[in-house]
Amino acid sequence: MNKSLRKTVIAGNWKMNKTPSQTTELINEIKPLVSNADCDVVVCVPFTGLQAAIEATRGSNISVGAQNCHWEKSGAFTGEISAEMLKEVGVKYVIIGHSERRTYFGDTDVTVAKRTRAALDAGLTVILCVGEYLEQREQGITNELVAIQTKIALQGVTQEELKRIIIAYEPVWAIGTGRTATARQADEACSAIRSTIESLYGKAAADGITIQYGGSMNAANAAELLAMPNVDGGLIGGASLKARDFAAIVDAASK
Ligand code: PGA
Repeated sequence: MNKSLRKTVIAGNWKMNKTPSQTTELINEIKPLVSNADCDVVVCVPFTGLQAAIEATRGSNISVGAQNCHWEKSGAFTGEISAEMLKEVGVKYVIIGHSERRTYFGDTDVTVAKRTRAALDAGLTVILCVGEYLEQREQGITNELVAIQTKIALQGVTQEELKRIIIAYEPVWAIGTGRTATARQADEACSAIRSTIESLYGKAAADGITIQYGGSMNAANAAELLAMPNVDGGLIGGASLKARDFAAIVDAASK
């Protein structure tokens, strides 16, 4: 296993936090703290903050992501945003299938696959989230579950398109709870996802894909998680809203 074959990506998931002016403010705080990062740095902000984020990050090493997109290009879908709309404002990444979308807004493996398709067609890079509920972990089906979520989401995704897929392993019980997966648990699930990729696309693709861990990752536990052979970065919620904490995680990933 050679970690140097793939990119380390630290992405902040701001969720429903920060107005456009607060977005500019926080990015301006983060920018100087991560300017020497030896990993990719992304901030995924609410739709209304995208324009401000694009402007605030211009000329920096920070890329901007959105947190969801619809699967149709346009049409009668009140309240939705298409991947093409994101692309045109300058967004590079989009989170798809976050557990909060699955739990509160009815996203399913099938709609996650449709959103992934639309995002790839628009030229975006997808941060595809998979992960188990606590009961599923206790049942011992975590590895099968993340494998099946990954397979359904990637149905029809070509080898070439896979280069624009990042997978985030996010155990639902660890998100926003302060309860982090142990480094071993995180590595095991990320390894199961990597094996799934190998079975679908071959060894080179599996060695090259970035697989993040997400779920209460913070400045204190990031180094241990990121040191694991299959953990290639993090999707950070709460800690990404504090410039110093987020920068500390970027530092840990740059070592
Ligand atoms: P958390 O969120 O870091 O606040 O647990 C992670 C996520 O939901 O992506």
